[in-house]
Order: sequence, then C-alpha cells, then structure tokens
Amino acid sequence: MSRSKPEESKKVTIEVDGETVCVPEGITVAAAVLGHTHDRHTCRNSVSKEPRSPYCMMGVCFECMMEIDGRPNQQSCVVTVKEGMVVRRENGAGEEK
Ligand code: FES
Repeated sequence: MSRSKPEESKKVTIEVDGETVCVPEGITVAAAVLGHTHDRHTCRNSVSKEPRSPYCMMGVCFECMMEIDGRPNQQSCVVTVKEGMVVRRENGAGEEK
C-alpha cells in the first residue's frame, strides 16, 4: 500500500471568516481550521461566549459547530472540505436563515 506524502496531495481552497486558506483535499473542515488558520477556535459558547475548539474530532462532543456554505450548526469535524467552501465561526448558537 502506498500513500502520498501530505505535500504531494491535491489542494483545495476554502474561505474561513474571510481568510483564504489552501488545504489538502479530503481533510475535515475542523482539521483545516486547526491546522491552517490563524485563529483555531470554531465557535463560542452560547452563554459564556468563550471560544471553543474541536475536541473529539469524531462527531461526539459538538465543540466544533460552524456555519458551512450558509448552513449553521454543522459539526465541522465530520464535514470534508470542498473547493470554494465558505466557512464561518459561530458566536453562540447559529441562526437558521
Ligand atoms: S470535534 Fe467533537 S463533535 Fe466535532
């Protein structure tokens, strides 16, 4: 079994709160935020407003909620990046549009 090195993998470009980042194809949105943006939090607690960051990375803890392509309250750790994806951090509970 051969695996390509990370630097050899295809890249996609996404936007995170206005920051354009180029990330490896196939990673999750949460991984992209943690590894490729300057601000590594994904959302804020809806009561205390403290910044929250992904914790479990497998869809259990709900610490990674983000707005993804206009859809609020998405678990960013279980969504794979796609070319042109627009992601926003949530400040408290996301609102349905
Ligand atoms: S990091 Fe735990 S649900 Fe996403």
